Amino acid sequence: MDETTISRFWQAHPCGDQQVGGLHDRYGRDHEAFFRAYDAHRYRTEPHIPKCLDEIDFAGKSVLEIGLGQGAESEQIVRRGACWSGLDLTAESVARVRTRLRLRGLPFEDIKQGSALAIPYPASSFDIVFSHGVLHHVPEIHRAQAEIARVLRPGGELVVMVYAKRSLNYVLAIGLLRRMGLAALYALNVEPPGIFGMHVRNARELGLANYLKMDNFIHRNTDGPENPYSKVYDRAAVRADFPLFRIERSHKHLMHAPPLPVSRLPFGGALGWHLWVHMRLRERAEAAPHHPVRRQSAPPGAGAAGDMPRVAVPVHPDSRVLRASQ
Ligand SMILES: C[S@@+](CC[C@H](N)C(=O)[O-])C[C@H]1O[C@@H](n2cnc3c(N)ncnc32)[C@H](O)[C@@H]1O
Repeated sequence: MDETTISRFWQAHPCGDQQVGGLHDRYGRDHEAFFRAYDAHRYRTEPHIPKCLDEIDFAGKSVLEIGLGQGAESEQIVRRGACWSGLDLTAESVARVRTRLRLRGLPFEDIKQGSALAIPYPASSFDIVFSHGVLHHVPEIHRAQAEIARVLRPGGELVVMVYAKRSLNYVLAIGLLRRMGLAALYALNVEPPGIFGMHVRNARELGLANYLKMDNFIHRNTDGPENPYSKVYDRAAVRADFPLFRIERSHKHLMHAPPLPVSRLPFGGALGWHLWVHMRLRERAEAAPHHPVRRQSAPPGAGAAGDMPRVAVPVHPDSRVLRASQ
């Protein structure tokens, strides 16, 4: 899938914006009022996030956050003493997060517009890469994880939140209820206003049976019916998609299965929608006992340490990063 499609979607739908009525719509571009309302809503509905952040040792570490949205966690990470840099695909998110940190007088290293597929930093730049709710929207995930491995220092940590496959939302709400509801609307030839009508139109475009296949349906049922790409994960899928990393621990949170009113049920640890995975960059021998090892070539503009040929490079014995395809 073309990354422009994904970028256009997030530029037009800044992540979480409408949950509190929109920076431009309800808050008339009053950033401070918007961020205050956004953070209050976010940490009321997802109170596990600050607790999970408290368990990560950010103080004094060089941290890259990928996929910034409204920058709520960016601020939290800076407040926990990190030397923070941020990267987002869209100009809108970068502008909002830069404004947030400046408004609040918080120090940060750098913020850039760019992609996880070509991270614009030299090799071995960071101790920690943090990415919340982003990498499940990246179709070329092997390439993204190889890029993350490249910019991490040896022994570096990757902390991600991805959508959980073994969750009430995936199995019951999306897998059963929403599919049945859509099939009923389609059969009755009803096109209600709002997102249900958008699903009916999607189904007409793709064909109902095709649209209802979970591999297709999942894209349109996590971040709205226009979202181009989403994937759900369990630990096995994380292992398969992040081969350069070793899972150290994982935990699930957030009872979320719309339209079911489940947010107060105490089963987030077992059936929650948000799967946090803490991973460690593998050492060379551990990563590839049977494979030759290559250092990744860097994307354009990555700087001196990344200035390597982008064509096939000879295997270097000191390299610790595998080619994405290996
Ligand atoms: C669902 S939002 C998550 C934002 C925030 N971390 C949160 O939890 O609310 C996804 C964000 O990731 C960004 N994004 C999507 N694909 C990306 C990529 N390949 N590289 C960098 N950022 C990306 C989008 O622009 C968007 O701001």
